[in-house]
Amino acid sequence: MSPEITVKPARRLEGAVIAPGDKSISHRAAILNAIASGQAAVDNFLPADDCLATLDCLRALGVDLLLERSERKPRLIVEGRGFDGLREPAAALDARNSGTTMRLLAGLLAGRPFLSVLTGDSSLLSRPMGRIVAPLREMGAQVRGRDGDTLAPLTIRGGPLRGIDHRMPVASAQVKSALLLAGLQAEGETRLTEPAPSRDHTERMLRAMGASLRSDGEALVLSPSERLAPLSMRVPGDISAAAFWLVAGAIHPNAEIRLEGVGVNPTRAGVIEALRMMGADLRVDNQREEDGEPKADLTVRSSRLRGVRIEGPLVVRLIDEVPVLAVAAALAQGRTVISGVAELRVKESDRVAATVEELRKLGARIEGSDDSLVIEGVPALTGARCDSRGDHRLAMALAVAGLVARGDTVISGADAVGVSYPGFWDDLRALTSPAAGAVEKG
Ligand code: S3P
Repeated sequence: MSPEITVKPARRLEGAVIAPGDKSISHRAAILNAIASGQAAVDNFLPADDCLATLDCLRALGVDLLLERSERKPRLIVEGRGFDGLREPAAALDARNSGTTMRLLAGLLAGRPFLSVLTGDSSLLSRPMGRIVAPLREMGAQVRGRDGDTLAPLTIRGGPLRGIDHRMPVASAQVKSALLLAGLQAEGETRLTEPAPSRDHTERMLRAMGASLRSDGEALVLSPSERLAPLSMRVPGDISAAAFWLVAGAIHPNAEIRLEGVGVNPTRAGVIEALRMMGADLRVDNQREEDGEPKADLTVRSSRLRGVRIEGPLVVRLIDEVPVLAVAAALAQGRTVISGVAELRVKESDRVAATVEELRKLGARIEGSDDSLVIEGVPALTGARCDSRGDHRLAMALAVAGLVARGDTVISGADAVGVSYPGFWDDLRALTSPAAGAVEKG
């Protein structure tokens, strides 16, 4: 039986939450420092299952890593020994549930002179890999996969690569980062053009490590670089984790939640814009830049939300937040249309179908099509039995709905939160005053 958690309606949501370290940045800090020359310390590294999968793969490639996990102060020490420090792994590398691990490592390993096999859990084995396999093969890599080289497991016989001029059919930071990691090792420049800007953490980090990366119109151009300087840094709080509390605070009638040190990189922080468009009382204070990434403190209070249209490049900047934004829209006044969400169908679950089916169980009026979600706000949701389908972001979105629904919401597969936010249930308990509401393990 998968673990169940019962979320009860909360009378008040109040307090400060320290969002866990950013997942995308944590993966990159580990991978890029592993191929740098020297030691780096990464503070606030996210010790969640996805990032731990990356660390296990890097260890299997011979990288020396130490993850210190003292009370709420995780710190990763990486001993980078350059690209040549990596060695052939003795067994298949298991990326588990993590698309970022699999795609970024595929790009890195395409240029290494040995054989690697990349595998993952059943969700990852069904996610599209053709989008990295095809351009990596154009660069000269020998990459093979199931189903006509479109699915993992992937077999990579690394070798010499050449730069390419690639127009990406979908905006994807994982694809872009995979090709940049291959491009560092290639002969000649690698030129990438995205249909819309995806998160730019890899570019920021690579520049800070001394790589030569420039913009040319809409294209990103990378010159090969054999030597990267190690980059010690403090990872900002994850806006994708903070988003659950931003929505919870906005839809709950008696709430004030503060989140400190959250990453507000404009290529990631679309959820702030969307919630403000919906009328959320959301303050962004103390904006600063630390270690090349913008950060801020966020405060959200009970709000009266209205339906909006979310479309175009904004969708790319909030793609992981769509399930929880659908919860906000379910309780907003009027209709919300979120279009351009086809990519959601190939995330950790088919998030269009899963969001529609699970939120309907709670009484939401929501329809999904290939590429969009249409949500008509209702005055209240009603607790019910629902299922995370093993998808961390769905589990957390359902929990947020449960905090405001009438009656109990029982979520099966609640342990999925460990993929990106292991402290989620503890933070939920802390925000919910003990007398007013609680969560119970089933
Ligand atoms: C990520 C990029 C996005 C995002 C994922 C993390 C990353 O995926 O949905 O959760 O760390 O680069 P795509 O690259 O597939 O768009």
